[in-house]
Amino acid sequence: MDELELKPSSAALGVEVRGVELSGALDSEIADRLRAAFVEHVVLVFRDQSLTPEGLLAFTRLFGEPMAHPLNTRRHLDGFPDILVLENRPGLPSARNDYWHSDISHLERPPTATLLYARTVPEGRGDTMYCNMRRAYEALSAGMKDAIANLRAWHSPEATIRRNNEEHNDGLPIVDPPPPHLHPVVRTHPDTGNRALYINPHFTIHFEDMTREESRTLMEPLIAQATRPENIYRHHWREGDLVMWDNRSAMHYAVRDYDETMPRLMWRTTTAGEVPA
Ligand code: OGA
Ligand code: MN
Repeated sequence: MDELELKPSSAALGVEVRGVELSGALDSEIADRLRAAFVEHVVLVFRDQSLTPEGLLAFTRLFGEPMAHPLNTRRHLDGFPDILVLENRPGLPSARNDYWHSDISHLERPPTATLLYARTVPEGRGDTMYCNMRRAYEALSAGMKDAIANLRAWHSPEATIRRNNEEHNDGLPIVDPPPPHLHPVVRTHPDTGNRALYINPHFTIHFEDMTREESRTLMEPLIAQATRPENIYRHHWREGDLVMWDNRSAMHYAVRDYDETMPRLMWRTTTAGEVPA
């Protein structure tokens, strides 16, 4: 049996999981321990993996039902509608993700887990940052926690539509945009009962019954708390890394310090989620 080892990646969130080959069949005890580590640590890092598309999907299924991107924001791998391809190469810069966000939070049921498998990495560049939204919530004052306890916010795909439809990149045009959705600002994790902040500056357009301008004044200190350096893990990619995160408890940010002459290729899967509560 594999000797599973968890090494903290930062004080804020994330563990590197050693001693496991994701391409093999994982026994149910290992799978249980990975699911528990995922919920507790929010970000799991696996190094030196060698995965086929089928292998990536089989591993994804340990955490939930794979879902195709409902907006088809990028091409998928030939024959694998549930594997999205993020590609950066000469003539085709990848669509930017350099803003803090939780994946597709404008859906009624945003995905639970996102998995990114690094195939090609520009050396020393293209890191991804993660911040812990559970710690961000816990660090708020009692007064602020009270103020936002029953607040809801609108999440919209409009920024992604602008990115895909108005910029030249690997993003596909979005032709039939879904409507915005209202979600609680404080989200309770269904497995642990932990509360986490659930807003992000990319998809969240304003709080319920407030203007965008009013919303900015409240949003700013919450996002500032969430993105303090000590609340972040910054992942330096190597080819063969698989990193997965819980969108209910984290935001992430793709550092854009490379250009289209520096190839980067990632495969991405997501698992179907629940209505945030
Ligand atoms: C994503 C994403 C980050 C990256 O796939 O959802 O934000 O570093 N990617 O490519
Ligand atoms: Mn993302």
